[in-house]
Amino acid sequence: RKRVAILISGRGSNMAALIEAAKDPSYPAEIVAVISNRPGAPGLTRAREAGLVAEAIDHKAFASRSDFEAALEARLEAHVVDLVVLAGFMRLMTAAFVESWAGRMINIHPALLPAFPGLATHERALEAGVRLHGCTVHYVTPGMDEGPIIAQAAVPVLAGDTAAELGARVLRAEHKLYPAALARVARGEAPIVGERVEIASGDLLMNP
Ligand code: GAR
Repeated sequence: RKRVAILISGRGSNMAALIEAAKDPSYPAEIVAVISNRPGAPGLTRAREAGLVAEAIDHKAFASRSDFEAALEARLEAHVVDLVVLAGFMRLMTAAFVESWAGRMINIHPALLPAFPGLATHERALEAGVRLHGCTVHYVTPGMDEGPIIAQAAVPVLAGDTAAELGARVLRAEHKLYPAALARVARGEAPIVGERVEIASGDLLMNP
C-alpha cells in the first residue's frame, strides 16, 4: 500500500472520504498522516477521531513560504510518505517544492478544469451559465490548478441553483471521485505521458 499524507486547511470532508475508502484493506493506499497549515482546522479533529495522526504546521509561524515548506518536508520524510494528497489545502506552494513532488502530489479542484481555476468556482459557473459543472483531480504542477488531469466528475446545473446548492452537489461528486482517483494513482494506473495522463481503458469519467 502506498503511504499517503493528506494536506488540509479546513473542514476536511474530502479527507474523511479518503480515510473511509482507505479503511478497506484492499484499497491501494493507506493514510499515514493528516497535516494542516491551520491549527484550528476542523479536519484535524475529525482525523484524530478516526484514529489518525494529525498535525498542524502553522504557516504563520514561518518567515517565508520556503521555510514553511522545509518544515512540511521534514514531517513528510518522518512519515515516509509516497504520495501527497491535497484536500482543501489553501496555500500556494513554491515551484521548487512542487517539482520535488512531481508525479507524487495530487489535488482536487471544485470545477471542470481548465474552466474556473482559482476561487469562487460555483459562483462563476452560475454566472457563466454553464449547464455542466463538476470537479477535477489532477497532478500538481507549479501553475495554479494546472497539471495533468487524472479524473473528472460532472454534475448538472439545475434551474434556480444557488452557489451553495451547486457546491453541495459538486462536493458529493468530489467525495466519490477523489478516492477512486487516488486508487488509480496508487496503483500506477495514471501515468503522465508528456503533459497528460495516459487514459487507461475503462476510464474514470464519473457522472454521479
Ligand atoms: C473542496 O470543495 C475542494 O475541492 C476545494 O475546497 C473544498 C474543501 O472542502 N479545494 C479548492 O478550492 C482548492 N483550491 P473539504 O475541506 O471539506 O474537503
